[in-house]
Amino acid sequence: MQVLWVSGYQELSELVAEHIYRSIEEKPEANWGLATGSSFVGTYRLLVEKHRPRPLDLEGIRTFNLDEYVGLDGSSPYSFRYFMNRSLFYPLGLDLGQTNIPNGMAKDLELECKRYEEKIEASGRIDYQLLGVGVNGHIGFNEPGTEFSSRTHVARLTESTRRANSRFFGSIESVPTHAITMGIGSIMRAREIILVVSGDGKEEVVQQLLGHQVVSKRWPVTILKKHPKVTVIVDESLVSERVGVG
Ligand code: GLP
Repeated sequence: MQVLWVSGYQELSELVAEHIYRSIEEKPEANWGLATGSSFVGTYRLLVEKHRPRPLDLEGIRTFNLDEYVGLDGSSPYSFRYFMNRSLFYPLGLDLGQTNIPNGMAKDLELECKRYEEKIEASGRIDYQLLGVGVNGHIGFNEPGTEFSSRTHVARLTESTRRANSRFFGSIESVPTHAITMGIGSIMRAREIILVVSGDGKEEVVQQLLGHQVVSKRWPVTILKKHPKVTVIVDESLVSERVGVG
């Protein structure tokens, strides 16, 4: 696990955007696993800024988002489809046919999960997976207790996650109770993972991930200790001392 410390959100966003830009230059035919959340707003904005004067060849790129709320369609400003289209796909000029996000409006949600997982596998797996992390250690919407072997499934959101995400919705009651998410097993099949740890209240996440704590389902993010190629980018304001850098 490679750990990079950054001194704030701007530096973090710059580093990740540059990494994505260079990776696409080097490997223009690749599958990208994408994440939503505040952690990536700056990254996507800077990636678009880099792309404008020096456009990347994006024809060979396929994207797969981690998750989507159940019950929201792409026209809802709270859906992850809406966020991705506006913050990244439209500005980059990506054909939406190249992009994949679970359909939270599917009549048969189980079938949708199966379809999504199969599409990822049929595409040849994910080359680069971007990940954020919740204050309770969730990745995607894999809440504490989720099986490490899980594949794309419908997840029930915890009270803490709904409260954290209510900042986008205005009230906790408006936050959906369920989401479709790639599973932990799906995420671990990516060839490379880039994890961003940024945002208030994630001190314990840093401790669990970079300290000597064991891999535990109580902190889903800790499974990344077992992945062969992970880069963790941590906002150093989250630690008083740089702990156990491996
Ligand atoms: C959301 C998403 C996660 C994201 C996390 C952290 O619930 N499902 O994929 O990593 O919360 O979000 P933020 O970056 O806004 O702190």
